[in-house]
Amino acid sequence: MSDFHQSTAPSPSSQFPASDIETSPHEYSDVDSGFGASIARTENSYSVTTGLGIYPYVYENGRRYQVYREGAYLVPNDGEEIERLDLFHCIFLALLGGKLYIAPLGQGGHRVEHVLDIGTGTGAWAIEMAEEFPDAKVIGNDLSKIQPPWAPKNCEFEIDDVESDWTYPENHFDFIHLRSLSGCFQDWDMVLRRCYDHTAPGGYIEFQDYDADLKSGLGTVPNGPLSRYWKVVSDAASSNGRPFQIASTIEERIKAAGFVDVTVRNEMWPLGPWPQDERMKEIGRLGRSGLRSAFHAFSSALLSRVLGWDEAQVQKLCQEATQELNDGSGQLYVTAYYVCGRKPS
Ligand SMILES: C[S@@+](CC[C@H](N)C(=O)[O-])C[C@H]1O[C@@H](n2cnc3c(N)ncnc32)[C@H](O)[C@@H]1O
Repeated sequence: MSDFHQSTAPSPSSQFPASDIETSPHEYSDVDSGFGASIARTENSYSVTTGLGIYPYVYENGRRYQVYREGAYLVPNDGEEIERLDLFHCIFLALLGGKLYIAPLGQGGHRVEHVLDIGTGTGAWAIEMAEEFPDAKVIGNDLSKIQPPWAPKNCEFEIDDVESDWTYPENHFDFIHLRSLSGCFQDWDMVLRRCYDHTAPGGYIEFQDYDADLKSGLGTVPNGPLSRYWKVVSDAASSNGRPFQIASTIEERIKAAGFVDVTVRNEMWPLGPWPQDERMKEIGRLGRSGLRSAFHAFSSALLSRVLGWDEAQVQKLCQEATQELNDGSGQLYVTAYYVCGRKPS
């Protein structure tokens, strides 16, 4: 229950429907928690709701998940996941030599006044963007309220579902950023069309993620537990209607949405300290550490809800994949995609 006390947050934004705060699609029997909140349980999960300005969560197999649009995103939002997101934030930046984006922002008369970070997570990117552009207003939205309260004044966070209708003005944002969102949406083309509609003429969109295709510096990926993990989880995500294999399709999708001058930058994202180059070796260390934590985060709710696995099966799959990752002899990596495009003026 310690998470309950850590999860105090400002009152919800107007985009957080009150009905969603108090209810969950699951059938729960309410139990009085003794401190003004209600705790509802099923066999392996429980949710906490309260009217005290504290955000509700659902707990399942030892992990915490968002209640807003419960089930739309099957990855936890607890402390362990927040650490993983911050670590991945460092990797995305390190692969760009410390830069937050590849788009030619501020060049050729382009002004950065309104920025949107879709699915902002911990808000780390949005906060750093607000620091880099102190005159711009940066909005980060997410299903989960896991952003810190100490963001710069020009950075705001909203609870929102970007698969629902948008309330932002059209032709408004000078830059829309989407990072690490593969597996989040049922209809990427619809989300990208909305991005187009809400980008100001001459403004930019940027997508950043790694693809879901495991590769090896030795040429062939060993046919071991890691490959099995990758296949089971990717197949389950696809069956769930929110596939992981998105990054390599984004260039075409962004063009189809209407953006022009589309640029793609690919970087190797090593999953262990096997590269010779010292900088890549360090990124590989981070990559391995992040993946260890991602194994359980990506699979627990997904495999139990979609394939009916129990937690012991999930743990076994993750442990075996972790063992192979720690062994490191496979020289594994994935490819990072940084894709940006411009809305014609
Ligand atoms: C893997 S995290 C990436 C967070 C952040 N973009 C980053 O790069 O650190 C994916 C985030 O997308 C959010 N998300 C998933 N579906 C969403 C939706 N329909 N609307 C808004 N946010 C969503 C999740 O809550 C989660 O915080």
